Order: sequence, then structure tokens, then C-alpha cells
Amino acid sequence: MNILILGSGGREHSLAWAVMQNPKCDKLIVAPGNAGIAQIAECAALDIEDGGAVVSFADENAIDFVIIGPEAPLAAGVADRLREAGILVFGPSAAAARLEASKSFTKEICDAAQAPTAGYGHFTDAAAAKAYVQAQGAPIVVKADGLAAGKGVIIAETVAEAEAAIDDMFGGAFGGAGAEVVIEEFMEGEEASFFVLCDGETVLPIGTAQDHKRVGEGDTGPNTGGMGAYSPAPVLSDEIAEKALAEIIRPTMAEMAKRGMPYQGVLYAGLMIKDGQPRLVEYNVRFGDPECQVLMLRLGAQAMDLMHAAAEGRLAEAQVNWGDDHAMTVVLAAEGYPGSYEKGSAIGGLELLPETSFEMCFHAGTADRDGRIVAVGGRVLNATARGASLQEARDRAYAMADAINWPQGFYRRDIGWRALGEG
Ligand code: AMP
Ligand code: GLY
Repeated sequence: MNILILGSGGREHSLAWAVMQNPKCDKLIVAPGNAGIAQIAECAALDIEDGGAVVSFADENAIDFVIIGPEAPLAAGVADRLREAGILVFGPSAAAARLEASKSFTKEICDAAQAPTAGYGHFTDAAAAKAYVQAQGAPIVVKADGLAAGKGVIIAETVAEAEAAIDDMFGGAFGGAGAEVVIEEFMEGEEASFFVLCDGETVLPIGTAQDHKRVGEGDTGPNTGGMGAYSPAPVLSDEIAEKALAEIIRPTMAEMAKRGMPYQGVLYAGLMIKDGQPRLVEYNVRFGDPECQVLMLRLGAQAMDLMHAAAEGRLAEAQVNWGDDHAMTVVLAAEGYPGSYEKGSAIGGLELLPETSFEMCFHAGTADRDGRIVAVGGRVLNATARGASLQEARDRAYAMADAINWPQGFYRRDIGWRALGEG
């Protein structure tokens, strides 16, 4: 099979790595890719949010199967364009991608599916939103309705903070994403992510993970895209996972099918767990980054067969072969991230790192400048490892991170602390 993966981050490097493990892959192209991906696959310049351009590229390169990594092309309808052109694709339609692209849509679906989630109000003007906040009190969560690159969520400790966030959002701080606002009850508990594949009908769990969103050790400082992750998530016991499937995920998928927008692709459910009860925080319509990196290392070659089965509507006959293993990824980021950071610093030592089915350093924001790997993003590398225990996975991941020679980078030393019973 000739395969095209869309995207350029650590998520896509790990997807490419898993696809390359599978003998059914004859040729792999990643667009646009990065310097790490270029070491294992062909990379191509392509505007991945332009459905017409993606269809033409797939035709010209005799692509049999397209895997879409990030949310933006999904929300832009690239999967729809590919399906219309008769090209097999892994990823939801633009209509179904609203489960990530519109928070009010997700809330409405949860209501219809009776899925446990935070109580909420949905507003199109500031006065009504503020009246709601005053009636509810704080803490309370103010969210821009649309895609805001992970920045459109404000956890307000006071009513005044919530009112300021409402003014910011309706004032255009998040562009069109903030034209509508969802205000939610603040949920307490422990967060975990649950990943399932869906083919429009059948739901197949493929793993759990937890990430560390804050930049600093002890989970302090500003939010980031994620500074590290591990899988499985101990808090998502089999019993709680089964509850999440029965009460949240399957009813959501059934509601989507009922509305004529069956969901096909990976669904990433962010859950809040308290007293043994999961509640939905949010859905994403793609793999998490860096959660994908730990899932791919654990799944290996079968990941491609599973995504292929989802795309062809064959999940009912698919099954996951689980190893009794653990994986961890440590993100190496550029000094200054998530604020402003320099680009172009050289990274050494990468060629000496192990590359096995237990240890891989996935690239995120890297480029090749005359044969030297340089940092060109905020999150730059993902030292990823698996082992028989989380401690073993962690030791291997940090051995890799420590062996990388990049003075302008930094990483958290405490990824997995909660699961390892530290702190
Ligand atoms: P979201 O973009 O919806 O995932 O929100 C980003 C983060 O904000 C989540 O991962 C949670 O840590 C937090 N969050 C969002 N909504 C709530 C809520 N209703 N209660 C508590 N925390 C929340
Ligand atoms: N790591 C969180 C995300 O991908 O949204």
C-alpha cells in the first residue's frame, strides 16, 4: 500500500514510524514532515489544509490510503474531499470534526446522548454570559467555542476573572473562535485521556494516557501543548474505562450516526475522574501530541492495520494485541517555550541514540540545515521509550533525553510523577 500522512509534528513522526514497521506499507510520504521523518520516509511540501491540493497530490503519487494527523485539515474538510475522490482516508468529516471544532456542538451532543459532562451555558453576547457567571459563582471555566490552538480555555478563580475572560473573548482575543462562548462548571478530579478508533459504528479502545500540560516541574507555570506523557494511565482502570465507553463514548458515536454524521477516525476523549466516575472534559478528533508517541510505541505495526480497518469500516472484526507494557515520552522544548523562543540552534548527539522497538526519539520542530539538525519549533524532540514497568520506560526515555546535546533546550525531569507515586 502507498500511504500519505498529513502533518509535521512528533505525532506524525510516531505515526510514520509505526506505519514503516508494517510490511503492508510499500511507500510512505509525509507532508510536510520534518527532519526526523525525512530519515524514515519521503517528505513533500503540500498545503495540507487545501483539500483539492491533497487530492491531486494523492492521485499523482498513486496513494492508496491517507492518514490525517492534525485537526485543522479535518475541520477544513480534507477528509471529505478525499472520500469524494474515492481515496481511502483515516479521519472524520468536517461535520464530525465539530466534536473538536465547536465546544457548544459537543455539549449539545452530550446532552442528547446523556453523557456525563460539566454543566454549561452557551452564549453569543457578553451580558448574558456575565449574568450566568454571576449566578453560578467561581471557580468557573470560560471557553471560546471554536478552535483556538489550545488557548481558548480560561479557568477563572473569581467572578471578576471570568468576566474579564468573557470581555476578551467577545472582544476578539481569539478571533472567530471566540464569537460564541461556552461557560462550564469547574470539575475537580484527575484527568486522563482515552483513545478509541471508530468506523462510524464500532468503537475499539486503543489505549489510555496522561500528559503534563504545564511547562514546569510539579505541574506549575503556563500551559503548553504537553511536556510529556505516559501510557497506560493508572487512573483509568478497566472498570472506569468501561464506564466511559458505556456512558460517554458509545452514546456519542451513536448520536453522531443518528444525525447522519457517522464518526470515522480516532476519538480522543479527555476525561475527568472523581470517585470512580468519569465525566467528559472535551473531545479531540485526532491523536494527542505527545500522547500519540507513547501509543504508537506500544502498538507498533498493528497501528496501521487498525487505522486501515477503521477507514474501511471493518473494526468489528479487528482486535488489539496488547503487550503488558508501559511507555513514556519526554518533550524537549526550546528555552522560552511556551513564550517566545529562538529558532535555528543546532542539536547534537541524535545519531548516537538507540532506535529500536523500545526506544525512539521522535522529532517535532526540527529541520535539516546543510546536514545539521536544528530546532525550528517550541516543542522540538520527544524522547520516547517503553518497558515492562513505567519506571523502566522512564529510565530509558531520560537516558535518551540526557544524551542529546542541545544547550538551548530544556525538559521536565518529573514526567510520570503521579503514576510513579512521587510528590
Ligand atoms: P480543553 O481545551 O477543553 O481540553 O481544556 C483545556 C484544559 O482545561 C483541560 O485539559 C482541563 O485541564 C481544563 N478544563 C477544561 N474544562 C474544564 C472543566 N469544566 N473543569 C475543570 N477543568 C477543565
Ligand atoms: N497533548 C494534548 C493535545 O494533543 O491536545
